[in-house]
Amino acid sequence: MVKAIVAGASGGIGQPLSLLLKASPLITELSLYDVVNTPGVAADLSHISSPAKVTGWLPKDDGMEKAFTGGDIFVIPAGIPRKPGMTRDDLFKINAGIVQGLVEGIAKYAPKAYILIISNPVNSTVPIAAEVLKRAGVFDPKKLFGVTTLDVVRAETFVAEITGEKDPAKLNIPVIGGHSGETIVPLFSQAKPQVQIPSDKLDALVNRVQFGGDEVVKAKDGLGSATLSMAYAGFRFAEKLLKAVNGDQNIIEPSFVYLPGVPGGEAIAKTTGVDFFSVPIHLGPNGVEKAIDVVSSANDHEKKLLEACYTGLQGNVSKGIEFVQNPP
Ligand code: NAI
Repeated sequence: MVKAIVAGASGGIGQPLSLLLKASPLITELSLYDVVNTPGVAADLSHISSPAKVTGWLPKDDGMEKAFTGGDIFVIPAGIPRKPGMTRDDLFKINAGIVQGLVEGIAKYAPKAYILIISNPVNSTVPIAAEVLKRAGVFDPKKLFGVTTLDVVRAETFVAEITGEKDPAKLNIPVIGGHSGETIVPLFSQAKPQVQIPSDKLDALVNRVQFGGDEVVKAKDGLGSATLSMAYAGFRFAEKLLKAVNGDQNIIEPSFVYLPGVPGGEAIAKTTGVDFFSVPIHLGPNGVEKAIDVVSSANDHEKKLLEACYTGLQGNVSKGIEFVQNPP
């Protein structure tokens, strides 16, 4: 029996993500929470002939308590998305408070749940979530994930366009660091199977993975950022986690976690100097089984990218922690 909750379920990501979760046989109960429109989204999805029982909740009438209680896995795409010209950091002012409020609710009503944060800036919202959970005395770093899967999905797709691979999902490319601009570091040297990127194409490819989100923001011309590809990526991570929790072995997917709190993470944090960081995670029955060190084996070009990542990421992480410790 698995109860999944989508917080921000009526939004551009929330709706297709809820659709994918509803269609998944791994989920028995799907609870949709948002400040608007969840009764309609829930009614619509509830007609699909899959096992999950769907309910929709708004904040009124103790909706959060009813939506969250008994939750096993929370996926959070609540908050405002980017418009052209905005960076993910520009979203901080609004989304920081939204994520804080939602995670306070999870700490209260479902403290043992897995939490997957999509709301941007992920580099700061995940440290916010960790700080809220710490304060409530329920922080289990093995269960808190920043969803960076869209960066991995983009890397697979963009590399396949260059190498001619017909099924991009067959490529396994670690994308590590954070989830914005230069903090996103694809490690093509560690792709499996190995890929050969012509040197005259490498810089543009790295740039496209780092700033791929901007292509979508620009193309949508003021109507938001990636929603459908993000829903796909968010579902891919949630599904892998649920499969690992159910006992499937050898499931590895990068995610942004609190390194000092997870097996294998302490040593990586010493190398990076940043506590919150995305690396490939071996997922298991309790969430993070082991963080895998791909940082030390990065090649010289990637090490240069990592230096820029560390600087930017450290500032984003501190900003999140500060937001909870010394509220504005
Ligand atoms: P959207 O505006 O379409 O949807 C956001 C939803 O959150 C809305 O339905 C809104 O009513 C809801 N919401 C606002 N405050 C809430 C609260 N306190 N409790 C519950 N729900 C609340 O935005 P979209 O496009 O779905 O993006 C959502 C977030 O995901 C943004 O922050 C965006 O930057 C981020 N994102 C993250 C990506 C990643 O790779 N991690 C990729 C793309 C977007």
